[in-house]
Amino acid sequence: MSLNSLRFIHRNALVELRNVPSDRTLLELLRDDLHCTAAKEGCASGDCGACTVTLAEAVDGRIEYRAINSCIRLAHSVEGMALWTAQDIAEDDRALHPAQQAMLECHGSQCGFCTPGFVMSLFTLYQQSDQGRNVTRAQAQHAISGNLCRCTGYRPIVDAAVTMHHWPQPAASEEGLLEKLEALAADRLNAEGAENAGATYFAPRSFAELLHVRAAQPKAQLVAGCTDVGLWITKGHKRYDTIIDVTRVAELKRIESGAAALSIGAAATLNDAFAALASDRPQLGHFFERFAGLPVRQSGTLGGNVANGSPIGDSMPLLIALGAQVVLASERGERMLAIEDFYLGYRKTALAPDEVLARIVTPRPLPHETLRAYKVSKRFEDDISAVCLCLALHVEDGVIRRARIGAGGVAAVPARAVATEAALVGKLFSLDVLEAAAQVLREEFDPISDMRASSAYRREVLGNLLLRFYEETQPGAPTPLADLTWEHLA
Ligand code: FES
Ligand code: FES
Repeated sequence: MSLNSLRFIHRNALVELRNVPSDRTLLELLRDDLHCTAAKEGCASGDCGACTVTLAEAVDGRIEYRAINSCIRLAHSVEGMALWTAQDIAEDDRALHPAQQAMLECHGSQCGFCTPGFVMSLFTLYQQSDQGRNVTRAQAQHAISGNLCRCTGYRPIVDAAVTMHHWPQPAASEEGLLEKLEALAADRLNAEGAENAGATYFAPRSFAELLHVRAAQPKAQLVAGCTDVGLWITKGHKRYDTIIDVTRVAELKRIESGAAALSIGAAATLNDAFAALASDRPQLGHFFERFAGLPVRQSGTLGGNVANGSPIGDSMPLLIALGAQVVLASERGERMLAIEDFYLGYRKTALAPDEVLARIVTPRPLPHETLRAYKVSKRFEDDISAVCLCLALHVEDGVIRRARIGAGGVAAVPARAVATEAALVGKLFSLDVLEAAAQVLREEFDPISDMRASSAYRREVLGNLLLRFYEETQPGAPTPLADLTWEHLA
């Protein structure tokens, strides 16, 4: 048994635990060890939101709140944070929290299985939005995008979100919370070393320390938000005795915007990384809303999505289209690869045992770039792509000067459509050329048939998306769906 200690704030009190296994999930810790059963297990894979809890941490002198899925989050990842479940937010049995009272008044619950998760998404929104004031229906819909309800339906739940502020504010349960969080973080730093003796859950605080730990523990499982590794535990029943958590390394969370490129640290959350990418290319906002659900985007990281190399991950086709490069680092030094060269086979990457993915570097937009990212899936949000296609074409004087196309769901790895790019470059940007290229694209990959789509469907859709790109970018074309935001759709 290791000496893995864990401390966090729960119900305004410090919880201190020892010997918590490295791969214990947060939901297991809450339900089985602490007997806090308000957080439910539905899917155990980050898809339904029944297990949603709220986390808070001190960031630059203020408290940041996030709703996350506790089923696929590792218990140790909440070290130094504050945590709430649906049974922690009411003052007592007679005074529900406004998020709970609004759900009650708006008839937002029937069977109730989903309800604790919805309440926590609403509680998080309440904390983030000045006690629920001025919450729009679009913001409410965004906040519950990771929660599924199969009996009540969403309208009453959105009604609850926009009326939370009508109910009396809870007594200031957060008094002194910022100071407590800061003290816990400082205490942890001072205790480092002695307390880590014998530990098998490593959470290095600096980049140099991370590289050192990685060199010493080349077989340890690297984790960030754990939104995929969590499933290997809950669904694949894998055990990981030794884990390296990269999310405490400040350098890996940094996002830097230079004149020519945007550099995104591998441990930047998907939310933060997508916001940075969308600030350069606002047309991507819609695509990013379709990536999983909000709790997953608030835990998962861009580096995690890239490094685990899933052929159906949605970031990689986009990064391929953008011409991104990945920076791999070890104590031996750094090297840079084009992202498409990072993938060697099904979930096999170029990372050496002592290396970590440090950052992802994407070029800033150049003049004449036309970019579109398409996701085809059965549900609008919180779903996995059957096909993902991202296209960046540079058209000048009617001629395609440069083309980069990334595709997901069509091969064993995230793929670059080089034959299709060759069929476009140097040609006129015309319907004839695009139709011929669409045929090349349909034949460039040999996708599998699975529960999401047949091989024939995937091929057909690939070509059709290229033609959609042409139609959408014609002068006078109606506003493409990809340019619409939640505010438009509400
Ligand atoms: Fe479904 Fe966690 S139990 S998201
Ligand atoms: Fe039954 Fe939502 S109330 S699933």
